[in-house]
Amino acid sequence: MQTTGHPRVLKNLLPRHKRKTPPSLQDDIPFGRTQTDHMLICDFIPQKGGWQTPEIVPYAPFDVSPDSVVFHYGQEVFEGMKAYRDTQESGQILLFRPEQNAKRFANSALRLGMQPVPDDLFLRCVHELVMTEHDWILPNPGSLYIRPTLIGMDTGVSYRASLSYRFFIIVSPAKNYYKRETGVSVFIEREHVRAVPGGCGEAKCGGNYAAALPALQRARAAGAEQVLWLDGLKRTYVEEVGAMNIMFVYGNTIRTPALTGSILPGVTRSSIIQLARDLGYTVEETRLDISDVIRDIRNGSLSEVFGCGTAAVISPVIELVDGSERIEVNGSLIGSVSMALKKALIDLQFGRGADPHGWRVPVVAQ
Ligand SMILES: Cc1ncc(COP(=O)(O)O)c(C=O)c1O
Repeated sequence: MQTTGHPRVLKNLLPRHKRKTPPSLQDDIPFGRTQTDHMLICDFIPQKGGWQTPEIVPYAPFDVSPDSVVFHYGQEVFEGMKAYRDTQESGQILLFRPEQNAKRFANSALRLGMQPVPDDLFLRCVHELVMTEHDWILPNPGSLYIRPTLIGMDTGVSYRASLSYRFFIIVSPAKNYYKRETGVSVFIEREHVRAVPGGCGEAKCGGNYAAALPALQRARAAGAEQVLWLDGLKRTYVEEVGAMNIMFVYGNTIRTPALTGSILPGVTRSSIIQLARDLGYTVEETRLDISDVIRDIRNGSLSEVFGCGTAAVISPVIELVDGSERIEVNGSLIGSVSMALKKALIDLQFGRGADPHGWRVPVVAQ
């Protein structure tokens, strides 16, 4: 990893006897609800020369003034990534393409007029916090979910970009995103849109997720787990599913919506595209009309649909809910292509087999 003049990470750790006991795979661990003993904080303060020394401190609430920019004008962006424990003897701790998260985090910040965290500072902080909290990494199929976040800290409710920022990272042990390892039912959202060209769809900002909540509530009321988003202009072309990108399997061809600016460029998406090509599939990044998708499910030419993202890896879609209609995908069975790709990706993430693209990054003290 590139190192620059950024200061080393300071550690103010809890004494051993004050630390919690990390859970095991047998425990009930709802996704993202259990935080570890420590978090990392790094402030950007222009009057003090910019980025301050990052500090790992006991996990605790911190003060944010009620008139801060983050609360009133939504300057908030975040990332989602994982640390894995290598299943081989070495037991090494691995990150998966973390530089992609660093880049996306910076791009998200720039889209919201925020001070981006330099890639090398971001990566150093992730490495150090994961190293500190390594006892909390659940073994395969578990992991440690990493949530870097950046917020605008300037005070006063006049509308402008904040000049000072807080970058923090929290981590939580992760088992499975979904309680059951079955396919998901998705609700085609025809009323709201998630993003429009020129908007914030390709940024990972909290506002996108807040605006998506009413649709999620509608989906849940219709008995579905996730929302299938259509494009913001014509409400015709498929974009994403919940907090995942989406892929469609047509025999030996996998189609996925092209990144047009309103779709989050998923690290999993780009990895699956490469892995699918490595496995001999043709992958097309294209436009997918929802009525063609429904027609093709019905005529059997479209055999599998799946969502992909860091949290759930690959989630087979077994049903589309469109108003009062329910459309079964692949007889509601989980397809073999989705499962083969999931296995290929998980093997890579957990250190099994070769890593031809150099995606695995061992965690090291900085
Ligand atoms: C809206 C949205 N799309 C797609 C993804 C998948 O991205 P990634 O594979 O980088 O986790 C996510 C998750 O971060 C997301 O929130």
